[in-house]
Amino acid sequence: MYNGGKIIAGLIVFVAFFAFPFYYNLGRANARPEPKLNTPVIMGLAEKKCVESRDFMRAEHMQLLNDWRDSVVRDNNRIYSNAEGKKFNISLQNTCMDCHSNKKEFCDRCHNYMAVKPYCFSCHIEPKEDKS
Ligand code: HEC
Ligand code: HEC
Ligand code: HEC
Repeated sequence: MYNGGKIIAGLIVFVAFFAFPFYYNLGRANARPEPKLNTPVIMGLAEKKCVESRDFMRAEHMQLLNDWRDSVVRDNNRIYSNAEGKKFNISLQNTCMDCHSNKKEFCDRCHNYMAVKPYCFSCHIEPKEDKS
């Protein structure tokens, strides 16, 4: 007979060792960027809601911005009606960045983490922020 105890101990060490990157990353999920939502305009909202639901914004904001641009540039339509029928003025600068006036702590925080660099603000005006 083989030495069952040693084999089992060996297996436990083996599994623990190879699973290490997995549970190591579990802890690090906390290191994901926390985009800050505490701007004056958002703090003043009765309902802390974006243009669309948070899940939608997270996944689709790039596409939404594309659609917004097309709507203005191609169709000359500057009003967006969201899933609930609520209307928004279509403007990156005056709508998105009015609420999200903390670009560095919001947009940039995610984008830097994901290593994406939208080029929009070479033309569109960034919100004024304290340099820190
Ligand atoms: C009326 C204020 C307001 C406007 C305008 C607004 N947002 Fe938001 N945004 C919020 C709030 C509040 C949340 C958090 C929503 C929640 O928790 O349900 C949010 C969430 C988000 C999120 C998800 C963040 C996360 O951590 O999940 C993204 C991305 C986002 N907004 C991008 C945009 C973009 C792009 C625009 C313009 C198209 C925009 N927002 C316009 C208030 C706004
Ligand atoms: C919750 C994290 C998060 C927040 C907050 C966020 N973004 Fe993004 N954004 C992303 C990710 C991730 C991508 C890349 C998506 C992809 O490549 O499919 C992206 C891509 C984009 C793109 C397309 C860039 C390209 O080159 O294709 C634009 C435009 C953009 N974001 C604008 C904004 C603006 C403006 C804000 C702030 C109002 C914002 N985002 C906030 C995560 C975020
Ligand atoms: C080369 C300059 C330039 C760049 C770069 C650029 N835009 Fe624009 N954008 C414009 C111009 C010009 C208009 C038309 C302005 C108008 O008619 O109000 C416009 C209009 C828009 C509009 C609708 C009107 C408004 O005021 O917001 C949106 C939304 C928009 N762009 C989003 C984006 C996004 C998102 C990016 C980056 C992925 C981007 N733009 C990059 C020049 C640019």
